[in-house]
Amino acid sequence: MKSIEELLGYQGKAVVITGAASGMAKSAAELLLSLGAKVYAVDRNETDLPVFQFIPADLSQKATIDEVVAQLPEKIDALFMCHGVGIGKGKEKFIQMVNFVGQRYMVEELLPRITDGGSVTFISSTGGYGWEHNMQNVGEVLACPTFEATEKWVDEHVDLFTDGQTPDPYQFSKQCVTAYVKSKTRAPEFIGRKIRINAIGPSFTSTALIKEFNLAASSDGTEAGGAQVLHDLYLKSWNGRAGLPEEMGYPLVFIGSDLFSYLSGQVLYIDFGMTGELDYQAATAK
Ligand SMILES: NC(=O)c1ccc[n+]([C@@H]2O[C@H](COP(=O)([O-])OP(=O)(O)OC[C@H]3O[C@@H](n4cnc5c(N)ncnc54)[C@H](O)[C@@H]3O)[C@@H](O)[C@H]2O)c1
Repeated sequence: MKSIEELLGYQGKAVVITGAASGMAKSAAELLLSLGAKVYAVDRNETDLPVFQFIPADLSQKATIDEVVAQLPEKIDALFMCHGVGIGKGKEKFIQMVNFVGQRYMVEELLPRITDGGSVTFISSTGGYGWEHNMQNVGEVLACPTFEATEKWVDEHVDLFTDGQTPDPYQFSKQCVTAYVKSKTRAPEFIGRKIRINAIGPSFTSTALIKEFNLAASSDGTEAGGAQVLHDLYLKSWNGRAGLPEEMGYPLVFIGSDLFSYLSGQVLYIDFGMTGELDYQAATAK
């Protein structure tokens, strides 16, 4: 019987992970390092992790992504797309560019370098839940053939996902990530080389990003006020707590590993049952 480390199969593998300076991706990168992976980390902030290579970059710009891609290795066994930004007034376009448009571009630029049987794993969100009910808009985004065309679509439709609307800008960006994962599962460029594509869908997690969510939810302008609103919304009914970064980062590492070699096209919601309950309510609604 193989050990769990052997089953995960990261020893000596080239792994690229974005957003690794903080939160969920930092937890994932720590686990990947302990499993013997050769970790290439990308983030706009410095990391204190002893990764094989750290590339500082703001992944909202096409030119910067091109520079990052040029520095990454010729062979990548697993790619984890984890960076992301939260909500905030005036950031509607920026959120789309960071959370989806740039991420899709980077994945597609790197795809030829991903080994046969390799994996691509995103961090989406429970915010992307219900994406199929917004398929008209999400479908238009997915149908844009280039970075430039997608940016143009975002420029022309930014009023569709302003703050206070459903979906809000963050939710819309994550709907696109989730739909993209589903759309690519059987696409020839993925399945033809047995490259798996999945995501995790975390709910409320205590990372640096939570500050942005708190401020956005606040009616009195304070972080504490927003924290109370979100607590009442997501945690009060089940006397719950926010997730921990490693409760998201560790499962992410597992999904991208050889242990999950038959899993593709899935968004694993890690939310202590929040979307499970919504599924059941929808199925039993009169
Ligand atoms: N925290 C939550 O409640 C929550 C819930 C669901 C999904 N998520 C998603 O989880 C992922 C990880 O976020 P986190 O909660 O660990 O937050 P975090 O802020 O701790 O980590 C995000 C990392 O992404 C990096 N980053 C952001 N924008 C970047 C850019 N333009 N270029 C390069 N790096 C950039 C940041 O520097 C940071 O290190 C994000 O995609 C986020 O949307 C978070």
